[in-house]
Amino acid sequence: MNAIDLDDLKAIEKIDEDGMLKAIEDFPLQCQEAVDLARGLSFDIPSDMRSVVVLGMGGSGIGGDIAKVLLEDELRIPFLVNKGYLLPRFVDDRTLCFAVSYSGNTEETLSGFDQAVERGCPVISITTGGLLGNKAEERSLPIVKIPKGLQPRAALGYLSLPILVVLERMALIGDKGQDIQETLAILDERTKNFSPHKPLSQNEAKMLATRLCGKVPVIYGSDGPTAVAALRWKCQFNENSKVPAFWNVFPELNHNETVGWELLRDITTEHFLLLLLRDAEESERVKKRVEITRSLIEGRFGGASEVWSGGKSRLARTFSLIYLGDFVSFYLAALNGVNPSPVERISVLKRRLSEE
Ligand code: F6R
Repeated sequence: MNAIDLDDLKAIEKIDEDGMLKAIEDFPLQCQEAVDLARGLSFDIPSDMRSVVVLGMGGSGIGGDIAKVLLEDELRIPFLVNKGYLLPRFVDDRTLCFAVSYSGNTEETLSGFDQAVERGCPVISITTGGLLGNKAEERSLPIVKIPKGLQPRAALGYLSLPILVVLERMALIGDKGQDIQETLAILDERTKNFSPHKPLSQNEAKMLATRLCGKVPVIYGSDGPTAVAALRWKCQFNENSKVPAFWNVFPELNHNETVGWELLRDITTEHFLLLLLRDAEESERVKKRVEITRSLIEGRFGGASEVWSGGKSRLARTFSLIYLGDFVSFYLAALNGVNPSPVERISVLKRRLSEE
């Protein structure tokens, strides 16, 4: 099958049957709406919490990973993202808990919610409804009710920013108004720069997708913003573009994976493409590590690209990178001739599990 021309708007529209592109293009608006929703939420939680736990899986759980990265240089209490059925023992009535599930029906998150309620945690749910919405409503617990009709991974603004706003309102972190304004301005600019209307020759997202076509992305991040962006890029390649992808982070990868590219006998390594996510704030030591690692392993790959974050605040730097990845994974889906929206295997798996 011949890959489509990424400047052919009609061809893109035909593949994108369920409107993933519109959801991506509306992301800046979604972020603004998410902030407004959380600013209007009424809740009454003492501010002397000793820890924060976010419950969530996949496209919802990464909302917690992002919040964690955005706050780690500021929040003075531990912040854990719990991705599984069981809550760790330390979680108690002085743990502020966010239960995040777009559908509201994810069993791991529901299990964590039940345990959190049992232990007396203040719980705020972020969901469109589902069982989580029902459970929270029955107990009159606060809910950030977000709009239905998106794929969870396309609702990232709704699933991450309310956590930030609630912590800001509890004075656990400082005011984020300026960072949010900066981020929205950068996202707006990127919507134009990565739009299908921008021709391939001037469109970084289309160019990267073209380089990636037929290759397996290996995405490396480092401190905070690039680490969580690397995870997001990997998940978006999996779910939007339907390809395998791998991610890792500096400096840890220098202690194992760097050696792992040494001896690949029967696997043609030129089918892997190395993507290095970079950030102006990465430490000098990490900068050095990235440069040395690239020179050591680049020859094993079918190519390498560096992608830099934009903006000043952590929020802008994180979201600018994530947003580029969303567009790249979308264009890669188009080149692969697949509708980016459905995640058939996840749906089948959840259905089979519920039949047990
Ligand atoms: C689908 C997606 C998945 C879901 C995950 C959890 O777009 O991204 O990773 O997010 O299966 O489901 P929810 O988000 O409904 O709790």
